[in-house]
Amino acid sequence: TLEENFHNEMNTDFVLESNIHRLRGETLKTVNELLESSHPSPIPLIINGQEIHSKQTASGISPDTGKEFYDYSLADAAAIEKTLRCAQNQTKLIVFDDWPKRADKLLKVAEIMRHKRFHLCALLMADVGKSSLEADGEVSEAIDFCEYYARSMAQWQHLPNLKMQALGSVLICSPWNFPLAIPTGGIAAALIMGNACVFKPAPEAVLVGYELLNIFHQAGFDPCDLQFVSCEDEPQGSSLIKDSRIDAVVLTGATETAQYFMKMRPGLHLMAETGGKNTMIISELSDRDLAIKDLVDSAFAYSGQKCSACSLAFIHQSLYQDPKFLETLKDAAQSRTVGQVSDQRSFITPLIQPAQGKLLHAIESLEKAETWLLKPVLHEDSAHLVSPGIKLGVTPESVTYRTELFGPVLGLVVYEDLEEAIELINAGDYGLTGGIHSLDEREQQLFLEKVEVGNTYICRGITGAMVERQAFGGYKNSSFGRGFKAGGPNYLLQFCQIHEQLEHE
Ligand code: SER
Repeated sequence: TLEENFHNEMNTDFVLESNIHRLRGETLKTVNELLESSHPSPIPLIINGQEIHSKQTASGISPDTGKEFYDYSLADAAAIEKTLRCAQNQTKLIVFDDWPKRADKLLKVAEIMRHKRFHLCALLMADVGKSSLEADGEVSEAIDFCEYYARSMAQWQHLPNLKMQALGSVLICSPWNFPLAIPTGGIAAALIMGNACVFKPAPEAVLVGYELLNIFHQAGFDPCDLQFVSCEDEPQGSSLIKDSRIDAVVLTGATETAQYFMKMRPGLHLMAETGGKNTMIISELSDRDLAIKDLVDSAFAYSGQKCSACSLAFIHQSLYQDPKFLETLKDAAQSRTVGQVSDQRSFITPLIQPAQGKLLHAIESLEKAETWLLKPVLHEDSAHLVSPGIKLGVTPESVTYRTELFGPVLGLVVYEDLEEAIELINAGDYGLTGGIHSLDEREQQLFLEKVEVGNTYICRGITGAMVERQAFGGYKNSSFGRGFKAGGPNYLLQFCQIHEQLEHE
């Protein structure tokens, strides 16, 4: 109930055979259901509470097989217009002060997700190629957002002389790499604050998005509170952004996309979490084994496709020049199993898209003094599968240093002086996550005081922020808008207007 304190949802213990079997059963069922129905009808749009099957469709691609495995409807201009009209009407029907009812519905969403945990994991694995552990953690995060935002609403009700009002219609543009947790967070925040939501899922993850939508409706939210429009970015997606009936946009995606949105509609109320070029410092005063384990996890879990993933490690020169340290790091990375999602042992799973562009460049070429500590290999049978790569001698001018690669390539940078290393990190364009492995408190303190990133971590990995404990959000090119962090105490304030009501004598 709402009176209980918030606590983070527990992940599944996959050491237990029974849980492994349950997930395997659910995975097979989910995939078979999709594959066996030879002409399943495409996933519809949900507009004004109605299922709409449009003429134009697109397909979801399995990262495991590289083949199409479901179809979904794409909205045309008429469907977009209908969506906007419905959202605008709905905003007039929602009563802000009814938020306790909406909070109860959010708790119901969390409850349904708990019951469907294994099914949701199976969908995440099939649709976006997550390993079972990554998928399971994402389900927990989605549950946490609902539980946390439902409760955080209560703190705002007794603000003296302040009246809160919803913004109106909020468009949620969600990413493929967290297609359940991130839109759940945005939708939960927008809905609890009395807004109507239009949900545009990532084209790579419509299967997960559709299930998410159904869960919100099942929990009692009105179909017009939350509409579902898959569409192409141009011209339909852009027409949504430009339309003044959309009062705010929540985006998780590329920095360029956020910049494009602002160019299309200057003054747009945009809340965006964008790119990152995240770093971990490993000091000579660290617990080396622990540092290596956390570095490998942060760089290569979900094949480096998290916006929080570590892509540069600043290594103190005493370690960098120690062949034993480098050999252990190489061994640790090599020990992570590369394989299909369907194989429970896989740690590094197929990429959402075959390696291309800057990622392919970073995999295939070396610049200046760069050498491979561990050369990444493109899998013969699947262009989506890339084994981890670690580059030595990476310098600030190189592609590997500057570009967000979104793949399993880690660059190592040597440093002598901690302050200089932090200055280099701060000179970068992004500021999302960063960490230091050092057992020395003065070094930890220096790092915390000086580093300009949104999420800082000491002696642990730099991914996997937990709701309430590590509210998530960045600086500089990693964030647009007011910058209140997701899963933190002030996040909801961005989803309303606050009016001051002073009584005059
Ligand atoms: N919140 C995720 C993490 O911390 C990234 O979106 O890894």
